[in-house]
Amino acid sequence: MTTERRKFEHIRICLEEDVQSKYNYLNDVSFVHFALPEINFDEIDTTVKIFGKKLSFPLFISAMTGGTDEALKINKAIAKACQATGIGMGLGSQRAMIEDPSLTYTYDVRKYAKSILIIGNIGLPQFVKGYTEKEARYAVREINADMLAVHLNSLQEASQPEGDLFFKDGILILKKLKEKLDFPLIAKETGAGISKETAGHLKFLDGIDVAGLGGTSWSAVEYYRSNDHKETVKKLWNWGIPTPLSIAECKSIGIKTIIGSGGVRSGFDIAKCVSLGAKACGIALPFLKMAVEEDVKGIVREIETMKREFKIAMFLNSCLSVDDLKNKPLLFTGELSTLMKQRGMDFQYFNYR
Ligand SMILES: Cc1cc2nc3c(=O)[nH]c(=O)nc-3n(C[C@H](O)[C@H](O)[C@H](O)COP(=O)(O)O)c2cc1C
Repeated sequence: MTTERRKFEHIRICLEEDVQSKYNYLNDVSFVHFALPEINFDEIDTTVKIFGKKLSFPLFISAMTGGTDEALKINKAIAKACQATGIGMGLGSQRAMIEDPSLTYTYDVRKYAKSILIIGNIGLPQFVKGYTEKEARYAVREINADMLAVHLNSLQEASQPEGDLFFKDGILILKKLKEKLDFPLIAKETGAGISKETAGHLKFLDGIDVAGLGGTSWSAVEYYRSNDHKETVKKLWNWGIPTPLSIAECKSIGIKTIIGSGGVRSGFDIAKCVSLGAKACGIALPFLKMAVEEDVKGIVREIETMKREFKIAMFLNSCLSVDDLKNKPLLFTGELSTLMKQRGMDFQYFNYR
């Protein structure tokens, strides 16, 4: 099956089927209510600076697509909405345009989003199989992106019948890439999270997008495509590290720029991720339907709603700046609390700060 055909099927499945993990662990995180915020709502500053660019509040629309005319429509709608609201945008895997440069236009959205942070995207297996800094540079420069995310999608590839199961020497390859590139380079999961052990090997990068368990499950997506291995892929549906745990783990070992994503579904979720240690958040699936329908106004409305929710969370936590969220107490319940305990997380630190 061609890359383009596979991408088209992924989008169709994401629109038509239930592809999310069984539980969103961000529901197990809560703030402690303070009845006296002692600040005025209008004085709150929701802006953040990340990778040299300012966001109106800490949000990106995460990597989804590219490579076809349909993908261009999606990318264009997302780019316009991100520009109108002042947030960042990730592009889908650029393998298609590297293999066929005539497809570059399907990723080239800078003309619709002149000033926003745009993140290019290539999978690690492509570098293991031979891509070098040349392809990385090409992917970023050709479309005037600001930086590159290399996606680490071993679970996704293992769930695909035609998956690229090439991850050997990945750390070394990323290290060499980082040495040779003059724009920020981050690693990104695609829905299964990044542990502190993995993150510990990636400290030389400019950041990590955890893309943890709790939102879109790639095993779920592949389950609907799979014929021969359906039952195996189904067992992987909920495999991964919950997003809040993954953020806390990356933070605990000193990763400075963490993007919290995977199941982020509201401005309140964004506030929780920031409080756990994320610099910004990414959201993919909830914007897909509106992007396919080229409903730029709808996307803008949704982003503005999330911004308002994020600001309310800041107000209720008495935060005038986004960084203030980082020292507000958090409580953990349910399965997340059990997993955090087993991973040796410091509850006292979060509960009483
Ligand atoms: C239709 C679709 C296509 C995606 N394609 C890519 C991709 O090409 N590269 C990538 O790094 N992540 C890709 N992702 C993963 C998202 O960027 C994100 O990490 C993941 O969906 C979790 O976020 P969510 O729960 O908000 O959807 C894709 C997600 C969706 C829904």
